[in-house]
Amino acid sequence: MQNKQQILIIGSGGREHAIGWKIAQSPRCGALYFAPGNGGTQSLGTNVDIKATDIPKLIEFAKKEQIDLTLAIPDDPLALGIVDEFRKSDFRIWGPTKAAAELEWSKSFAKNFMQRHNLPTAKFQTFTEINEALSYLETQNLPIVIKASGLALGKGVIIAETKETAQKALEDILVKKVLGEAGREVVIEEFLIGPEISIHAFSDGKNYSIFPTSQDHKRIGENDTGPNTGGMGTIAPLPFVSDGLLKKIESTIVVPTIISMNEENKLFEGLLYPGLILTEDGPKILEYNARFGDPETQTYMRLLDTDLLDILDACVDGKLDQIKIKWKKLFACTIVLASGGYPGSYEKGKVILGIEKEKEGKVVIFHAGTKYDEENNLMTNGGRVLGVSATGNSLEEALAAAYEAVSKISFEGMQYRRDIGKKALSTPFR
Ligand code: AMP
Ligand code: GLY
Repeated sequence: MQNKQQILIIGSGGREHAIGWKIAQSPRCGALYFAPGNGGTQSLGTNVDIKATDIPKLIEFAKKEQIDLTLAIPDDPLALGIVDEFRKSDFRIWGPTKAAAELEWSKSFAKNFMQRHNLPTAKFQTFTEINEALSYLETQNLPIVIKASGLALGKGVIIAETKETAQKALEDILVKKVLGEAGREVVIEEFLIGPEISIHAFSDGKNYSIFPTSQDHKRIGENDTGPNTGGMGTIAPLPFVSDGLLKKIESTIVVPTIISMNEENKLFEGLLYPGLILTEDGPKILEYNARFGDPETQTYMRLLDTDLLDILDACVDGKLDQIKIKWKKLFACTIVLASGGYPGSYEKGKVILGIEKEKEGKVVIFHAGTKYDEENNLMTNGGRVLGVSATGNSLEEALAAAYEAVSKISFEGMQYRRDIGKKALSTPFR
């Protein structure tokens, strides 16, 4: 067996806990560090008090601990060029370069890229000037979608049902600059109709491997009502997506994206996550993410049957074609438990009860916004607090197991959606 590797995982969400949980199962995993991590990751390794965006300190830490592989997971450090900086210092790091991650950090780049390469997406135009944006709006049908081009923590997308809402959104972003630099440019795009799904694929720049399909639930309220969140729950694989449709998505979206990024000298290494809408005219790209989704990843790690460290090493070495990635023939889901008030303002520091009883089996609980206080009580420490994941032979079985575990957990103000997976179970097969 090869030597064990010292590994540093950047980030602090449920996604990073799930990735750490899977990496820790690898026989090649040595010391495991999380920067900054959360209450759950500290049971897998060591939390290091460095922010995910403090690249100089992270490099210093990698040097000191002789880290063999760093995993750059969240969007912010990727947009800041963490991968480029680590490589300049001769450290192995998994993730896309700043240039490749532009697919996510600039919606205007992403939309123009899709147009240049004829990739299926909603009709759109980009603007920096309010009057031009307002005149274009006059020519469009409703509803219409207004997006700030930059990273805006999920707050940059407005689906306007009326002209007035759309005009106000454009003025807020372009004139009042309510989203700051993220709103220097806006995208105005056609509203797409159909089920929304998440696609994930590992890529080493040339070779790729696509995951089973999954679906997030982005709105805070049941039946997809209320404001958007980071994601309130996921299921995988989707019972309504045929193998044929997944193949079509692979050949019309995933492959041409990787090839076209290559042609533009922006080799895409890491995790490509296009969000799609399955319209009547076929799958269309809503947006690209250049990283693992959260909570998608909490669900995916329950289904992945291959050693994740082997996969990520193969990605970094450009040898993804030499590895066969296997997925368990099961269904999985994750239910997010959030703080009262999320995605608006919320209080932290509420005691979390009921998770110590759960032995890992069908159910695994991933931590997101949690931390232990001095007396070793587990406390809430963020908007999304926990991800309760479960597997089953059917989606119904996985959901029942997850909700059963959720019923034992409590903290003041706890909120979650009781309808995760419900819509998917009645979505027509395609
Ligand atoms: P985004 O940040 O681009 O993922 O947008 C947030 C959410 O807004 C998406 O998950 C969709 O549910 C919705 N959305 C964004 N763009 C469109 C569109 N063109 N048509 C319909 N829904 C959209
Ligand atoms: N699941 C939504 C996201 O990761 O962006």
